[in-house]
Amino acid sequence: MRQTINDFEMNYEVAGYGPAVLLVHGFPHDHRLWRAQVDALAEDYWVITPDLRGFGESAAPPGPYTMDLMAEDLRGLLRELGIEQVILAGLSMGGYISFAFWRLYPNVVRALVLADTRAAPDNPEGKQNRLDMIQRVQSEGVEPIAEEMLPNVLSDRTLTENPDAVQQARRMMTDASVAGIVGALQGMIERPDSRPTLPTIAVPTLIMVGEEDTLTPPSEAEAMRDAILDEGAGGTTTRLVPKVRIVRIPGAGHLSPLENPDDFDEALREFLDEVTK
Ligand code: MLT
Repeated sequence: MRQTINDFEMNYEVAGYGPAVLLVHGFPHDHRLWRAQVDALAEDYWVITPDLRGFGESAAPPGPYTMDLMAEDLRGLLRELGIEQVILAGLSMGGYISFAFWRLYPNVVRALVLADTRAAPDNPEGKQNRLDMIQRVQSEGVEPIAEEMLPNVLSDRTLTENPDAVQQARRMMTDASVAGIVGALQGMIERPDSRPTLPTIAVPTLIMVGEEDTLTPPSEAEAMRDAILDEGAGGTTTRLVPKVRIVRIPGAGHLSPLENPDDFDEALREFLDEVTK
């Protein structure tokens, strides 16, 4: 489906009926990242999978696509759909956007799922790598960059034993547009440090991470959990510490919902059932 949201045509898919769950893909992916989760959840949940600006079948206006801007796009989509509260799940860049969404619209968030993501901003080397990538994608196109990224985002097990997942990941990445990649890279370079946001999170949170994720490794996931649970973070006022769970997805790298959907879906389903019962 397509809808004009803010200043661009956004593509999104909806499936099922029940409590609303918004699944936000990472970089440079699109709504197809969540195909298995849509199938697993649609019987009991209203599952919404947008293509962020610049990706999938959404239009690609000029960047930068800041995390706040993409969070506002998601808020606009929810408004269009008449959704007042949502369970918000984001993978990697989708997680960065989820932090921005939480800062902007905490009352709209019923629970959070943070998959293969991190709260820290880019260090200087990371920013430089993104600037280099912008130059390369503008001169060489998307395919060489996508091929280089593939082995970094998938586990060895996926690469050797799961050709379907490799193909799906490759297709999403090579289908991405130059304008979308550039806009998102510019936005990620300037994204703020979300670590101070963690102790403000006051809703149930599920953190998921591929056991072999080298980009946002399990140690980052643990650090996020500890910061959310930091009871001292509220200063002298008593803080309502939310339920936080961390689940490691075996055999998966950075694209855990695609690489090991069975374990990912089981953990997600259990969490959703708990927070909506
Ligand atoms: C993603 O999967 O969204 C990217 O790894 C995020 C990033 O480049 O920081």
